[in-house]
Amino acid sequence: MNMIATPEGTQDRLFAQCGALRRAQGELTCLFERNGYAEISTPEVEYYDLFLQSGNPIPQEAMLKIVDRSGKLMVMRPDCTTPIARVAATKLKASPLPQRLYYNETVFRSGAAHQGGSSEIPQCGIELLGAGGIEADVEAVTLAVEALKAVCPEGFHIELGHAALFRELANQMEMPETQAEEARKLIEGKHFAALKEFLHPYEDRSAYALLARLSQLFGGKEVLEEAESLVGSRPELCYLRELYEALERVGCGEAIRFDLGLVHQIDYYTGVVFRGYAQGAGAPVLSGGRYDNLLGAFGRPAPAIGFAVDVDLVAREFPVQAFNTRLRLALTKGRLQDKTVELMERAGLDCSPVKAPGRRLVHSLPNYPLDAVLAKAPDVITYVEHGVCDLGVVGKDTILERGNSPFYEVLDLGFGKCRFALAVKEGTDFFGTYRTRRIATKYPHVARKFFEDKGMDVEIIKIEGSVELAPILELADAIVDIVETGATLRENGLIPIEDVAPVSARLIVNTAAMKLKKAEILDFIEKCQMGMESSSC
Ligand code: PRP
Repeated sequence: MNMIATPEGTQDRLFAQCGALRRAQGELTCLFERNGYAEISTPEVEYYDLFLQSGNPIPQEAMLKIVDRSGKLMVMRPDCTTPIARVAATKLKASPLPQRLYYNETVFRSGAAHQGGSSEIPQCGIELLGAGGIEADVEAVTLAVEALKAVCPEGFHIELGHAALFRELANQMEMPETQAEEARKLIEGKHFAALKEFLHPYEDRSAYALLARLSQLFGGKEVLEEAESLVGSRPELCYLRELYEALERVGCGEAIRFDLGLVHQIDYYTGVVFRGYAQGAGAPVLSGGRYDNLLGAFGRPAPAIGFAVDVDLVAREFPVQAFNTRLRLALTKGRLQDKTVELMERAGLDCSPVKAPGRRLVHSLPNYPLDAVLAKAPDVITYVEHGVCDLGVVGKDTILERGNSPFYEVLDLGFGKCRFALAVKEGTDFFGTYRTRRIATKYPHVARKFFEDKGMDVEIIKIEGSVELAPILELADAIVDIVETGATLRENGLIPIEDVAPVSARLIVNTAAMKLKKAEILDFIEKCQMGMESSSC
């Protein structure tokens, strides 16, 4: 093993990089101190149970773990809020509330391998403990605006949502918990069309109109009006309006937007939630919200609100593309490329450069502000995730194989239809044995999840292509693979025995680009919908 390189997700920072980080940290910590916040520092390692007790939404697999001398499970601090709540409920228990605390610390999270994410994230943030109500929310959001003003000179905005909105709507619709979680995921991922379809059985409920639109309700304050026009006045919407007006009065109105589909981590946050987007950054640079139940979990019930700035992200130099209003679309080379071109042409876009690409990989459309980039399917996701492409067209198979990814999946484009299936040699009794079965697949993540959900332990063997060979050569008992016409299976004596998931081409969007280039991206989505409609005519 090469011990000279740094572990994946970590980096050495040299000279100018250190300078940029220190400058951003200096700006933020000075701002927090000027506003009466006192610095707090907690250990880099904490007991794993601390985060369990707090109901913290960071998944177990994202925490970096260590075992201490007595065998107790420790984690590298995955966030700063929980340890600060622990201190507030113990060492600071006798101190009067509200308490204003700030931190300048690194948090540690293990990301997926080879995706270019960082495991060490330097954060600067505040926690305002023991203060509830609108005044405290105005103070925290104003400070968030000031913070980004100090470190994002190219422009930024902060969007507000309300954690209770989705929860209340789902309760009102009497959705079973599993259905509500499915709807939450669709809203969080901005699956515009899929959400509507999923909620179809609830169409007669009064909350339906708003819930079905929730993923699309982001932008300026007109979003609140649209929401109210759908279901009338609701306490969460009234509160967001009141908060906005108060922020306007203190001169922060310009920086504020809304995203009523901000429904992440719903059990943790209890009121206003917010995210900051900076011109140039491909991911949110600030994240925060009200969490009134956390201190209570440590025995000192009190309301609280806080936010953290990702200092690494704001100190970085951004790619030029992010400042450009011209869209960049990553297209999966081959069949999906041809089908996307057909769809765009039906919507009136001149795609002649993409139709005769030669060896060129980037093509500008002559009559629409869009550059098309030709890439392999998994790379389409990578370019969109990192924000160097605003949009991508990629198969659901690739999305499922990548697992949880931070991008919006806005449209099912309706072409590239096929399915993932479990297939065996004809005559095999796959389920009728206790022996651990061997599964060959190009999609190990999809296959693992499928069998995990069934509670079956299997051995997965990754194959790069022509997976059908594996059972023929008796390397595997079955395959999990794409089936389109079924011809490859038939001609090789295999039969599908269970469907795993349907597959088709999807339009995906970078989360930050969706907010910063909203008009351009919505126009392109509309064009795609036009192309889809004209093909079904
Ligand atoms: C895919 C898939 C199957 C075949 C299914 O392979 O892995 O082998 O297509 O299509 P059918 O149901 O219409 O026969 P691909 O053509 O991508 O080649 P590969 O297996 O070599 O990657």
